Amino acid sequence: MRKPLIAGNWKLFKTIAESVALVDELKPLVAGNQSVEIVVAPVFTALCRVSNAIKGSNINMASQDCYWEEEGAFTGEVAPKLLKDAGCSHAIIGHSERRQYFGETDLTVNKKTKAAIAAGLCAIVCVGESLAERESDRTFNVIETQIKGGLDGIAEEAFSKIVIAYEPVWAIGTGKTASDAQAQEVHAFIRQLVARLFGQEVADALRILYGGSVKPDNVKGLMTQPDIDGALVGGASLKAESFAAIVNF
Ligand code: PGA
Repeated sequence: MRKPLIAGNWKLFKTIAESVALVDELKPLVAGNQSVEIVVAPVFTALCRVSNAIKGSNINMASQDCYWEEEGAFTGEVAPKLLKDAGCSHAIIGHSERRQYFGETDLTVNKKTKAAIAAGLCAIVCVGESLAERESDRTFNVIETQIKGGLDGIAEEAFSKIVIAYEPVWAIGTGKTASDAQAQEVHAFIRQLVARLFGQEVADALRILYGGSVKPDNVKGLMTQPDIDGALVGGASLKAESFAAIVNF
């Protein structure tokens, strides 16, 4: 009932030419796969060209962030409708690196999520605890605060345009994946929380992705967990072969 979604977060990697080359290489490797929603998230400068390169394929495109205003004197920002204009169907919002280095808060995540949805983008909203938070048994508290804040005031109908990505910060780029059971435990908690806040129907339909050192050799175990509906992949999405192996799990 929930179509798996596998998204590649390219972060601050690749020139325009390298980005186009990567999707050109990826296309034939995933062409037959209709059972997974496939998304890549290049840097802003590569969006238009990647959008042209994926036309007619089963690959979709996300931005790695967005602003919440439609236009105005906001130097350096990019509005959701301009991302749509550049060919995006999705926007990653509240990635832990943005929270850590760029002052992203649950309030800005909330504004960006609402703006992205209003512009017709699907928002991939990221949450996750740090190592210190996990080790002091605060994981569920942290996730609950992030979800309550990030999704505050969002209408039930809007949830068809929302995906949550659970990314434990200690597992991002470290090669240390959460175990299948650790990830499933938090995913189940998120689904129950969403059921409590927005209703069981919304929770049942919501896709919750896992992110943090997802690789071809651990994706299967994660994807067999009942509440894991896909993956947000960083490092392993930078090579067509490994990303295709994850998509075709
Ligand atoms: P990683 O990154 O797969 O390199 O751990 C995941 C992410 O940050 O989305």
